[in-house]
Order: sequence, then C-alpha cells, then structure tokens
Amino acid sequence: MLSGTGARQPETVMSEIVELAPAKINLALHVTGQRPDGYHLLESIVTFADTGDRLTFSRSDEDRFTLSGRFSETLTEEAGSNLVIRARDRLRDLFHKAGVATTPVSIHLEKNLPIASGIGGGSADAAATLRGLQRLWQASPDADDLAHLALTLGADVPMCLEGVPALARGVGEELHPLSRFPSLPMVIGNPLRGVSTPEVFSKLGTKHNPPLGSLDDSDWMDTLSRLRNDLEGPARGLVPEIGEISGLIAAEGALLTRMSGSGATCFGIFASGSAAAHAAARLRALKPCWYFEATQTIAGS
Ligand code: C5P
Repeated sequence: MLSGTGARQPETVMSEIVELAPAKINLALHVTGQRPDGYHLLESIVTFADTGDRLTFSRSDEDRFTLSGRFSETLTEEAGSNLVIRARDRLRDLFHKAGVATTPVSIHLEKNLPIASGIGGGSADAAATLRGLQRLWQASPDADDLAHLALTLGADVPMCLEGVPALARGVGEELHPLSRFPSLPMVIGNPLRGVSTPEVFSKLGTKHNPPLGSLDDSDWMDTLSRLRNDLEGPARGLVPEIGEISGLIAAEGALLTRMSGSGATCFGIFASGSAAAHAAARLRALKPCWYFEATQTIAGS
C-alpha cells in the first residue's frame, strides 16, 4: 500500500526540501452542469506558470509553519486554517493509518501569489505540501489514496498535484494530460481584490453551458480563442476591475486575454517572452498597486 520505509533519517542527511507551487491558469473553463451536492461540473483546459509560491520543508523538533513574501500578510498561520497545514495533517493521518512514522516538520511558505485570485494559490500550496512531505518522509501513499486525499483538500488540488497541461473534467479531478501542449508567453494580472469562488458560481445565469467540443491540437491559439470562461461574466459583475485589467492587458498587444478560474486574475497570451516582459513592466508602472507578472507556461511532455 505504501512505498518507502518511513524511518527517521540520521541527522547528517537532514536537508531542506524545496517545492515550487506554480500558478494554475484556466485557459478555458466551461461550466456544464451541477452535481446534487452543489459542486459544478466543468470542462477546463489548464496549464501552469513558471512563477508561483515557494515552500521549504525540513525536519524539526515540533511542527512549525512560517510565512514570508509579498502576500504573506493576507494569510493566517493558525493551525487548520490554511491548506498547507490541512494537507500536512491529512497526509500524516494517511501515513499513520498505514503504520508509517512521520517526524515533526517545519514548513516555510513564501507567498508570492495573490490569494483568492483564481490561479489556485492555496491549492498549489497544498499540492506542493503533499509532494514535499512525501520527499521529506521518504514514503508515498497508494496513488488512489493520494488522489482521494488531494480532492478532499479542494477541487483544484488534484490538477495542481499533477502540474501538467491538461483537460480537466468532473469538478476538475478527471485529468487528461495534453502531452503536445505548447509553452505560452503570458502576462498575469490581478487588481488585488479577492473573489469568493462560491459567490461567483452562485451568480451564474445558467449552469448548463456548451462543452468544450472537439479540440484541434494543431492550432491551440485558434482553438482557445473559440472557448470561454463561463465564470468571467459573473465575476466581472462582482469586481468591475476585471474588465479594466483585461482591457489593459489587451491594449499591450496580447493575442488573447481571459480570466482564470473564478477570478479576478486575468491572463494575456503574447507572441514572445520579451513582448510579455515588456508589457508586464509597462502595466506595473501604470498600476503600481496591482499585481502583474510575466511568465512562460510549461509545455506538455
Ligand atoms: O473545492 P474548493 O474548496 O476549492 O471549492 C470552493 C467552493 O467553490 C466550493 O465550496 C463550491 O461552492 C465552489 N465550487 C463549485 N464547483 C467546483 C469547484 C468549486 O461549485 N467545481
């Protein structure tokens, strides 16, 4: 059921383990239905940026959690109140039930991504915690148990655990990797107004929108341009800055601009990395209190 010894390692091999928690970008997100439990059924194309939060894990005499980074003050360090601590505790429970010993751990989260922003910051942190602690504790749960645990932490955690471009269905947990998906030069922008995901879903006019349909993987830009984010309309109604930020990114020459997840982060795809970097610098100068980052998304493999 579990691989690895779970045995405590000698102090001499103790080291710090680093895991990146890349921003998740929903390039398209179609809401196609709703389950009896209220969760919405989605079809989404997701990819991951080369920018994100950074977590470090090391053995410790007791469990610790510390924070730094631009957005650390918007998070709380209280036990159970953030997804990193929940992920740590649930993975430890899984190991303990299987008789695998786990040491106390010190976790440091460098919070570089805005929170409640539609790019999976908390989910990416939870997924990075599951990866990092498996490395630290040198043990791995059964793949199905791990996938189930990830989903209990949030609908986006399984896709963040995989961390590859994918077509996601169900509530986001049915993943089909897109092995030939291209790397995209991008600017992501956020007006630093948090958005409540349940509230955005509740404002949907209809929960039964057309699915993604057939995907032509020979020309992704053309394919993406015909797709939508069904949550963008409701989110714009709640946070009018989404329209503004989308317009600003488009005005910098983006080939395609759209909102990610339940917002408010919008992305623009650019023709080159230098065009994206140039646009991000101009946007930061224009709106110094907002968040703009140039990034290159990862390619499928
Ligand atoms: O799973 P997660 O905790 O990230 O979801 C937050 C909230 O977003 C849920 O409680 C639900 O209201 C809404 N949601 C949804 N359908 C999804 C994902 C999230 O309705 N597929």
